[in-house]
Amino acid sequence: MTGLDPNPKSTSRRTFLKHSSAAIVGSSILPRTVFAQADALGDRELRIALIGCGGRGTGAAKQALSTPGKVKLVAMADAFRDRLDKCFSELGLHDVNVDVPEERKFVGFDAYEKAIACDVDLVILTTPPGFRPIHFEHAIAQGKHVFMEKPVAVDGPGIRRVIAAAEVAKEKNLKVGVGLQRHHSKKYLETVGRLQDGAIGDITLLRCYWNGGGVWEPRPRQPSMTEMEYQMRNWYYYNWLCGDHIVEQHIHNLDVCNWIMDGFPVSAQGQGGRQVRTGMEYGEIFDHHMVEYTYADGTKMLSQCRHIKGAWTSVNEHAHGTLGVANVGGGQIESTGGWKWRFTGDNPDAYQVEHNDLFAAIRKDEPYNEAEWGAKSTMTAILGRMATYSGQVVSWDDALGSELALVPTAYAWDADPPSLPDADGRYPIPTPGMTQSV
Ligand SMILES: NC(=O)c1ccc[n+]([C@@H]2O[C@H](COP(=O)([O-])OP(=O)(O)OC[C@H]3O[C@@H](n4cnc5c(N)ncnc54)[C@H](O)[C@@H]3O)[C@@H](O)[C@H]2O)c1
Repeated sequence: MTGLDPNPKSTSRRTFLKHSSAAIVGSSILPRTVFAQADALGDRELRIALIGCGGRGTGAAKQALSTPGKVKLVAMADAFRDRLDKCFSELGLHDVNVDVPEERKFVGFDAYEKAIACDVDLVILTTPPGFRPIHFEHAIAQGKHVFMEKPVAVDGPGIRRVIAAAEVAKEKNLKVGVGLQRHHSKKYLETVGRLQDGAIGDITLLRCYWNGGGVWEPRPRQPSMTEMEYQMRNWYYYNWLCGDHIVEQHIHNLDVCNWIMDGFPVSAQGQGGRQVRTGMEYGEIFDHHMVEYTYADGTKMLSQCRHIKGAWTSVNEHAHGTLGVANVGGGQIESTGGWKWRFTGDNPDAYQVEHNDLFAAIRKDEPYNEAEWGAKSTMTAILGRMATYSGQVVSWDDALGSELALVPTAYAWDADPPSLPDADGRYPIPTPGMTQSV
């Protein structure tokens, strides 16, 4: 599978920027026009559009506006006017560099196209992940630099679209940042760097967790709402929008394990279900998943994610090696011989650093493309969901090659979302042993 290999040593996150730099800048066969599509901005004002004006979109816009140099937010898009207005007032209080008059505020399913059509250099994509492949593809087609949040898709076809658009971005010399901010955390960079340099010998086992009490409670159905609006307002609980919490949250920890391994799993098997979050208002997602992943060299990664209040909580990654152990999120390494290392020193806010790094690359015209890695780490989480929903061993190749698309056939307020409630208002819940998820 050219370009979709789960173990692309030559495009590892650690070495990715270095390699892509050499590949693009050093190539004598690429025509000059390839470079003409995006130029170094230097000190020029960088104009941005925000697409998806919720909690993270508001935060990402603040971070973009706080990067060194002149930055202005000039266009905003959201599915809902109330969400856009709330974000606009919060950003207006935060920063004077918000210049979004009424004619550059866009609402609805096609709002992203209108915002991207404004005279902008970069777009921030922070909608629920079900829309990411469409929005990313369009932004790249229009020649825009992109910051997009994780996850970057919710199914195999979406991942393939993002990987293809990432290639186009490289050809057009467009920079892409993905919100896997641990890659920009000094603590993680130092800890993972030491593990890759052999601090605990060969890695024999990885464990990772996103065990917590869950996210926001479902918003009540109003009589005026169509089914499409109801699900959009409650996007977390519907897979075509969210991908389930293993994809939406646990991706961060799975991604760190991939980073340590410098590659992606070749298969997964697992189990999960709905133990406490069983009401119909909780849509169709599970409240717990446990997955055993296998990497190409046979190394196992055990993953747990849970949304159950009152149970043990942990959001972290651990590595075991032939010469010691590491608490990765804690920035601690301990060898079997008794040697100990602990990360000390400043650990600047990685949400801000990831924006500083991306914007600096745009200004200096340095290669920068986190999209393929972000897509493959998202794929790792989707692979886990496919394993827990089906109860089968699922291979990376089958998962990535899957034609099972979760997205709706039409995007409109009166269109049917892909998952509909039965006469009692209950949504179909995946059943291991019966559900086909690939
Ligand atoms: N990196 C991180 O640590 C981190 C943290 C939080 C959220 N996130 C990610 O950010 C994304 C958004 O999460 P959030 O917590 O901000 O959710 P949110 O619900 O607060 O915001 C999402 C916004 O997108 C809007 N939207 C939905 N569909 C749209 C469409 N088609 N076009 C335009 N706007 C649309 C919604 O109306 C809403 O305002 C998710 O992918 C999430 O995983 C990442």
